[in-house]
Amino acid sequence: MKFFIDTANLDQIREANELGILDGVTTNPSLMAKEGITGDAAVMAHYRTICEIVDGPVSAEVISTSFPEMVEEGKKLAAIHPNIVVKVPMIRDGIKAISWFTANGIKTNCTLVFSAGQAILAAKAGATYLSPFIGRIDDMNWDGMELISQIAHIYNIQGFETQILAASIRNPLHIVKSAEAGAHVATCPLSAILGLLKHPLTDIGLQQFLADHAKASGKS
Ligand code: E4P
Repeated sequence: MKFFIDTANLDQIREANELGILDGVTTNPSLMAKEGITGDAAVMAHYRTICEIVDGPVSAEVISTSFPEMVEEGKKLAAIHPNIVVKVPMIRDGIKAISWFTANGIKTNCTLVFSAGQAILAAKAGATYLSPFIGRIDDMNWDGMELISQIAHIYNIQGFETQILAASIRNPLHIVKSAEAGAHVATCPLSAILGLLKHPLTDIGLQQFLADHAKASGKS
């Protein structure tokens, strides 16, 4: 399973990258706005910086909603760096744009996916990645993980090559369950990645090992 970090915060991207387990980055217009990145030039420069930090796919989302504008915007984003993946919303013109990008060798991430039907359409259009938003589904009192399992089953039996990118991850258990359900990638906040480290028995065990070593070497 690949790990992407879901943020536009450069410090957090660097911190995750230093762990040596980071495969890529996803962003969205809300995450960019949270970092105060506005205006075309600043947005482009920010994506370039992220690509210089992480050697892997970096999703850059279009903010246009019509086919011709999405194509123009996506071409500009893709020209920033070879690792840019154009992130396109799951709307009618979005599917048309994904088909166009696929035919023209530009990688895509189909975002805002909430159903298996949407997942089938995106795969038919040739999306490189598909982003089902599991946390937002859970927030509605439905089961986001069930959707990941359903899509994984469909993609498997139909031989679709689109990779399932579990998105809107809120906690470490979401990552574990996504891996179990067959997601190819999980895009996570840094807190969820670091949460995977935690187990009280690890801390207790390490304390004991260090104490025993210190005793045996006459240091305590
Ligand atoms: C996916 O690429 C999105 O950026 C993200 O995972 C959305 O997460 P949220 O529901 O926590 O905003």
